[in-house]
Formats: sequence, structure tokens, C-alpha cells
Amino acid sequence: MNFQFSEEHLAVQQAARDFAQTELLPGVIDRDIHEKFPLEQVRKLGELGFMGMMVDPNYNGGGMDTISYVLAMEELSKIDASTSVVVSVNNSLVCYGLNEFGSDFQKETYLKPLAAGSIHGAFCLSEPEAGSDATSQKTTAIDMGDHYLLNGTKNWITNGNSADTYLVMAQTDPEKGHKGINCLIVTKDMDGFQVGKKEDKMGIRGSDTHSIMFTDVKVPKENRIGEDGFGFKFAMKTLSGGRIGIAAQALGIASGALELATQYAKERKAFGTEIKNHQAIQFKLADMATQVEAARLLTLKAAALKDSGENYDLASSKAKLYASEIAQSVTSEAVQIHGGYGYVREYHVERMMRDAKITQIYEGTSEVQKIVISRSLLKS
Ligand code: CAA
Repeated sequence: MNFQFSEEHLAVQQAARDFAQTELLPGVIDRDIHEKFPLEQVRKLGELGFMGMMVDPNYNGGGMDTISYVLAMEELSKIDASTSVVVSVNNSLVCYGLNEFGSDFQKETYLKPLAAGSIHGAFCLSEPEAGSDATSQKTTAIDMGDHYLLNGTKNWITNGNSADTYLVMAQTDPEKGHKGINCLIVTKDMDGFQVGKKEDKMGIRGSDTHSIMFTDVKVPKENRIGEDGFGFKFAMKTLSGGRIGIAAQALGIASGALELATQYAKERKAFGTEIKNHQAIQFKLADMATQVEAARLLTLKAAALKDSGENYDLASSKAKLYASEIAQSVTSEAVQIHGGYGYVREYHVERMMRDAKITQIYEGTSEVQKIVISRSLLKS
């Protein structure tokens, strides 16, 4: 076991930290209030290689490992979780899936611009009645010979409006259950593609979450990822890696809140001294720091397993479950330490508390992670 990062890891971490401070911090409160998508920042992240970090360099990727990705995600999420979710979805759910399971044609045509970050993508699994129960897909992809005819509605789609390329799960053969589901690559310019309602969210308000409607969209057969019926397994495999990205996001929100609370405790005076001198504050900070460190270790363990080619499904669910739970408690305690200042926008921690909540919900709720973990435990 080696707890040392390489020089490359430290360089990626520093680059992400610098970007977050100089490019994300200045407008983060404004983007949250006015629900502004960080397009300019996302494109700059693409130019710096943060949008296709783990993709094969032959397809414009960075060829980096998952540890680098976790370090970058933590740094970006410390400052702006709305931007980091765009990075996470593009890297983990869109580029990873295409890099790992896409055909040469799909990699040349779709992966290259996504990995370069000149465009970004979205992952369309959830439906009005299929969130946690992801096998119950109502969106249909009828096999028409040389193409699929796609019809249905997807909900809660991150990057719903801002994306150009969409990976869409749809049912081709209902009799086969999850083995009848396919993943199709859909682009925004296809006839019958429509972006629906924008969600007015509690947190990550800078990211754009929409419903998407498909009406008789003709998707060429060459846009199906993998063999016929591979779509559900594709989604599960992709989400397993995605959960490492969201664990890193939750970790970043928590560690960012801890840094702010620690700094505030050194500055704020009450009862004749800085509040850092009160044991009530010291105990809170100690608990928060311990939880953040535990979340970091779980997240890095999942990343290390993925990098070494071992099974990481269980580790990624544990990391996502724990990091998202402590992101809730750590951000809440950060608000508490700030007192009244913590409840106003200017001090960032109230936004972090709102942003943290989504990490317990998307890419599988905490309850879904517990299903994955307990099934594995009971099976063995
Ligand atoms: N890798 C490969 N295959 C997997 C797998 C994995 N990690 N997990 C499951 N499978 C396979 C199973 O082996 C099984 O295949 P066989 O029948 O051939 O054995 C098949 O998939 C079905 O698996 P289950 O029987 O376990 O399926 P289930 O219906 O009981 O569901 C579940 C299990 C864990 C609850 C799953 O449905 C799930 O993860 N749900 C949550 C979905 C989710 O995360 N949604 C988030 C939407 S995307 C999002 O949030 C993105 C965003 O915008 C930020």
C-alpha cells in the first residue's frame, strides 16, 4: 500500500486547484443565484485536458488514471460543484463508456470532440417512472432494420440543454427485460429530439438539468453501443465508475466546507477570544476532518482498484455512499460554525450544504448503494 502521490498526480491536483481559484471562484455565487451554466469555464477545462482525462490519447484524451481524476474532481468541487458535475458526467458517464465500449467509428466521430472538450455530453437513463428501478425503461427503440425508432421521455438529465451528444438507454425488446435494453448515441440535431423543462433545483443550480423528449427519432444502427441488448449492463458498468466521480465531488464539497470553517474559526471572535479556542468548535472540526479523510481514503481506494484492473463496483458504491453522507453532515456543521453568516450566500457554506444534498441522490441514491453493498455481502 502506497499513500504517496506521484509528481504527475500532484501536478494535476495543483492545476485543478489553480483553475478553481482563478476561474471558478469569482463567479460561483452569481452562477448559483441566477442559474447560469458555466459554459466558458467548461470550455477552458476542455482546453486544459480536464474533460476527457482518462480517455486514450489517440482519441484526444489525457490518458490519465482514475486517481488523477479524483484529485481534480476534489479540487474543482471544493469551489464549484455545479461546474464539477459537468466535468464528472462528461468524463465518467459519457467519455468512459465510449472509450471502453464504443466502436472505432463511434470513437472517431463522437468521442474525439467530447474528450477534447469542444462539446460535452449527457447520460440519459432516468425516466419519470424509472429512477432507482432502472430496468423499468419505458423509452422504446424499435428495430427498423438499418435504424432504431426512438420514442419516450427522459428526466433529470444533467447537461440536458448544454450537451450536444446524448447516450440514451431505451427498451428494444420488453420481453427480454433488462437484456432487451440498448444504449444509443443521439445528437441534438436529429429530427424529433427536443429539450424539455428546465428543473429549478435546490443545489448545483449552475448546472442545467432538463427533461428530454424523443419523437420518432431515427438513430442509425451504427450508433448502438455494443451488442444488441448490452444497454443495461453498459449503464451499470458506466455508473459504477461514475460513482467514484460523485464520491470525489462529495469529498470536495466537504473538504471545501471544512477549509472555510477552519479559517472562519481562526478569525471570528466570541466570548473574548477566537472561536477556535472553544472546545465546542474544536470537537466539530476534529469530527469533520476525520470524516473527510475517511471519505478520501474510500474514494482513492475505489480509484486505485479501477486503475489496477480489479473489480471496483463494491468499492465505488461504498465511497459514494459514505462521501455523500458526510458531505451532508460536514457542510451542515460548517454552516453551524459560521452561525448567522453561514446562512447567507456571501459565505459559500450555505450553497455547499445545498449542493451536497444531490450527491446522495444522483448516480444512484444512498439506498441504491446500500442495495449494491448488502447484495455483495450477503452473496458471499
Ligand atoms: N456491472 C455489470 N453488470 C451489472 C452491474 C455492474 N456494475 N450491476 C448489475 N449488473 C447486471 C447484473 O449482473 C444483471 O445481469 P444478469 O441478469 O445477466 O445477471 C443485470 O445487470 C441486472 O442487475 P440486477 O438484477 O442487480 O438489477 P436490479 O433491477 O435489481 O437493479 C440496482 C439493481 C443496483 C438498483 C440498479 O438498478 C441501479 O443501479 N439503479 C440506480 C440507477 C442509477 O444510478 N441511476 C442514476 C441515473 S444517471 C445519473 O444520475 C447521471 C446524472 O445525470 C448525474
